[in-house]
Amino acid sequence: MIKIAIFASGSGSNFQAIIDNIQSGSLEAEVALLVCDRPGAFVTERAKQHSIPALSIAPKNYPSKVEYEESILKELQEKEVEFIVLAGYMRLIGSTLLKVYEGKIVNIHPSLLPAFPGKDAIGQAIAANVKISGVTVHYVDAGMDTGPIIEQATVFLSENETTESLQKKIHEVEHQLYPTVLQHLFNKLEEKKDEQKASTY
Ligand code: GRF
Repeated sequence: MIKIAIFASGSGSNFQAIIDNIQSGSLEAEVALLVCDRPGAFVTERAKQHSIPALSIAPKNYPSKVEYEESILKELQEKEVEFIVLAGYMRLIGSTLLKVYEGKIVNIHPSLLPAFPGKDAIGQAIAANVKISGVTVHYVDAGMDTGPIIEQATVFLSENETTESLQKKIHEVEHQLYPTVLQHLFNKLEEKKDEQKASTY
């Protein structure tokens, strides 16, 4: 079974959706580590409740991003993490992690990228008065929400949509979409591993 780490900074409802899908058997993976850059965030409570090891790590305690990410990398390697799932991690991934996990880091973003990248995508959509927005799952590169798109789902805005009501709709879609997309990606990774094994005989 593939070992993953989830990176999150906030409430962690997507973290929870992934755990719930693993527990119900619809997602095959082991969450070997939660990485949280905001010690005290509610997501760490969720990890505790499910006995998932958590690394709470404050970037301000490190002299540079490289050293911060090297600390994370050490834990990831100790736990033999193969794949990184960003779920509300409010920080760009730097070269230290990208070098090791390139093509094996994904993110979920609450808009139809390339529309509304960066912070407060939901507020941006409301301000732009769009009628359709949605959710994007994409690979992570060095840019801000710029990596190759894997899957998208739409959400329709009503006449009097508010940030709160759109947030709720988006979350509902995310909690379905992310575990489904992850299962597809993990199937592909397992197939690749099997092929590699077969070719070494
Ligand atoms: C989600 O809307 C996700 O798209 C964005 O951050 C939010 C995290 O929510 N990247 P939660 O912490 O999983 O509830």
